[in-house]
Amino acid sequence: MEYLKRTVTCGELRAPDAGKNVVLNGWVHRKREHGPITFINLRDRYGVTQVVVDADAAEALKSVAGELKYEYCIAIKGSVRARPDTMANADMATGGIEVVAESIQVLSRCETLPFMVDEKTDAKEDLRLKYRYLDLRSFSMQRKIRLRHEVALSVRKYLSGQGFYEIETPTFIRSTPEGARDYLVPSRLYPGKFYALPQSPQLYKQLLMVSGMDKYFQLARCYRDEDARGDRQPEFTQIDIEMSFVKRDDVLELVEGMMGVVFDETLKVRLPAKFRRIPYDDAIELYGTDKPDIRFAMELQDLGALALKSGFQAFKDALAEGETARVAAAAKGITQDGGAVKALVVPGKADYSRKQIEELEAAAKIYRAKGMAWMKVIAGEAGGTEAPAGASALSGSAHLEGGASKFFAGLEGEVISALGAKPGDLILMVADAKKRVACLSLGAVRSRLGKDLGFCDPSRHPEGSAKRFEFAWIVDFPMFEYNEDAQKWDTAHHMFTMPQEKYHATLESDPGSVKGDLYDLVMNGFELASGSIRIHDPELQKRIFRMVGFSEEEGKKKFGFLTEAFKYGPPPHGGIAPGLDRLVMLMAGETSIKEVIAYPKNSFAVSPMDESPNDVDAEQLKELSITILESADGKRLEIQKQ
Ligand code: AMO
Repeated sequence: MEYLKRTVTCGELRAPDAGKNVVLNGWVHRKREHGPITFINLRDRYGVTQVVVDADAAEALKSVAGELKYEYCIAIKGSVRARPDTMANADMATGGIEVVAESIQVLSRCETLPFMVDEKTDAKEDLRLKYRYLDLRSFSMQRKIRLRHEVALSVRKYLSGQGFYEIETPTFIRSTPEGARDYLVPSRLYPGKFYALPQSPQLYKQLLMVSGMDKYFQLARCYRDEDARGDRQPEFTQIDIEMSFVKRDDVLELVEGMMGVVFDETLKVRLPAKFRRIPYDDAIELYGTDKPDIRFAMELQDLGALALKSGFQAFKDALAEGETARVAAAAKGITQDGGAVKALVVPGKADYSRKQIEELEAAAKIYRAKGMAWMKVIAGEAGGTEAPAGASALSGSAHLEGGASKFFAGLEGEVISALGAKPGDLILMVADAKKRVACLSLGAVRSRLGKDLGFCDPSRHPEGSAKRFEFAWIVDFPMFEYNEDAQKWDTAHHMFTMPQEKYHATLESDPGSVKGDLYDLVMNGFELASGSIRIHDPELQKRIFRMVGFSEEEGKKKFGFLTEAFKYGPPPHGGIAPGLDRLVMLMAGETSIKEVIAYPKNSFAVSPMDESPNDVDAEQLKELSITILESADGKRLEIQKQ
């Protein structure tokens, strides 16, 4: 049967179209019967149009209308009628009209739905993923998929306009060590050998620079076998960028320009021309994380000096222990921090209960804090005792109460003014012999409080000042980290990162203080992008390999093709890779990247829709010379070399 092909979409008709004869195609979104009149809300990607089967319609038409169920795919032929003002629906773009049906054709039927196609669904995530094609019919999903398309398009236009070529790199590559585990693809032609799926096109984009491509980008699919989280998927997309003859600031400025254009074009949001640059050490000191949410301040403060003057033995012990470890490490030529006492002033939360504080302490303990001390800032002088010197002058007469306050007797005014605390505030403190532990654990408490107190939500922010999007660059990352287990230095990021020039002379003598030419772009507490200036000098590369205990032989085996290429005039170069999924997730106001990926995997790396990963035919395995051995602890793959 010929089907009635649409002449307009369901989002198109307005009052001036009254009188037109039209054909609409779409899905039955809603159906209501008012006595003899049937109203059908017909939906497609573009919107919803109200269709009416009038009381005086032909019996045949009424009978088809009577048959219609949710999500039937239908064609409707009819005429456009303006709705009287009292009947107009201001919530619908097409609310000024309705289409009076003359005929309805059922294009396909729909069985009982697993869940309603709606703006918001209560369906469990696995059910949504199993029937993702239905889930994607909802306007909320369609908006996100459209945003993703628009962001990708805007990125392509911007980068092309800046002289970049989009170049595809292979997805079957040699397995090279990167951060995560590789997904492997067995070779049929070479039994026992594998291709790896790229964790990122890192080496290939660097090779393109050796080829003189100068400015490269790619919306690159990347594959990583790592534990899933809200902002991680086993396959995801990067806006992968590499440029020749650049310094760090050229890369940062390019990305600032790109984000500015993308946000303006897609969300009509104006970003600042430059993003704040925060050295890594400051990010840890102030926010206790290298991906701070700077939509709110509430920075961590140092209470070390006052803790030493206090009567708090646990704090003093932590500082003393840290100092001993620092001195011992320094004697071995290892630069390392001592201990620290970090404090967080939580505005207006002196009324927090013990239970609420214990919950925050639990967040701190995840980052290995041994505990979290607290005290409250109370207006006026402490009952019966003299106000501590300076208290009234500096803090408008306030004192400390509860928790650890007893250890700060005589120092209350100093503590309150040093921390800039006000009556009604809660002070939280973590001390540790390792400064990093104190910072990270109190940083976790800060992040938690940011969410609990609504500091990240512009509509709930007490000062109403939270912005929707707050970008920052984290720069000056440490180049090496000490591997206590192996008793050696490792590179903190990948091995091709350039150490900052001022440290080249002291690489081997003081690795702990070396900063890399590395940068991360963070937004709203998420890492959005990572990049670096790369090493292009083979001699410097050899020094890095040697420092991390990588033999030349090993280097050759693992990255041979890159080191070989670098013998032939590699240019100075650098790059970056913003995650497209994370970017769109944050732009869409979501907290999981699954919400902006058409067909994501669930938290167990499984697709409930196509049920991958799945068993394959014995014949396929045979061709690949793979035998599956059943063992007591589950299935095990074995390759049989022919
Ligand atoms: P990196 O490994 O930091 O750097 O990744 C860059 C960005 O990619 C995104 N990302 C992910 N998104 C979703 N799921 C994942 N599993 C996942 N892993 C990473 C993040 C991250 O910031 N080759 C380097 C880049 C470079 O140096 O140019 C790289 O891949 O947004």
